[in-house]
Amino acid sequence: MKVLIIYATRGGLSRRCAELLRDSLPKVIDVTLLDAKHDALPSPEGFDVAVVGGSIRMGALNKKLKKYIKKYTAELSSIETAAFICCGHINYFDEYKDIELPKKLKCSLGIHCFGGELKPDKLKGIDKLIVKMIRSSVKYEDFEVSFSSKDTLPEMLPETVTRLADKIRDLL
Ligand SMILES: Cc1cc2nc3c(=O)[nH]c(=O)nc-3n(C[C@H](O)[C@H](O)[C@H](O)COP(=O)(O)O)c2cc1C
Repeated sequence: MKVLIIYATRGGLSRRCAELLRDSLPKVIDVTLLDAKHDALPSPEGFDVAVVGGSIRMGALNKKLKKYIKKYTAELSSIETAAFICCGHINYFDEYKDIELPKKLKCSLGIHCFGGELKPDKLKGIDKLIVKMIRSSVKYEDFEVSFSSKDTLPEMLPETVTRLADKIRDLL
């Protein structure tokens, strides 16, 4: 089985999610992992499964990733496809999903929120300010997952990633 995973990241979280997904799949699966911003992207034709996703910045997914999804909406919809989004405002996930992905895109394996990293200390200038603002408006109650400390917001939601890996493995 051939799986194509394409991600777009700015801060690295979407890449880590994509890598976790790849590493959670059985070794018999042939995985191609590509960065939408830097790699040449093949057509999904010839792959059995495609996973496409990335982070939300200023309300939008990466332009190159969106262009790829738009160009190959029909091909993606004709195979087993999943999409994922990493965002700080996880309570806006449904809106991002509706606005940023083509209406015609059929994701037989679902559209998933893989979490979001909100660490202002890692950033500078306006980026730092934006993340601080998002952080102060995100509520712990927004997360359905359990987490140990209320001082730390969950970042990546690894169980969501591994659940998708299980779905892909079930196709074998
Ligand atoms: C400059 C900036 C703008 C952001 N804008 C949004 C936003 O509009 N909505 C949102 O939900 N999260 C926003 N975020 C949070 C990111 O989606 C979150 O940090 C995510 O984990 C980034 O993933 P990445 O590391 O793969 O780029 C923003 C983060 C930064 C640094």
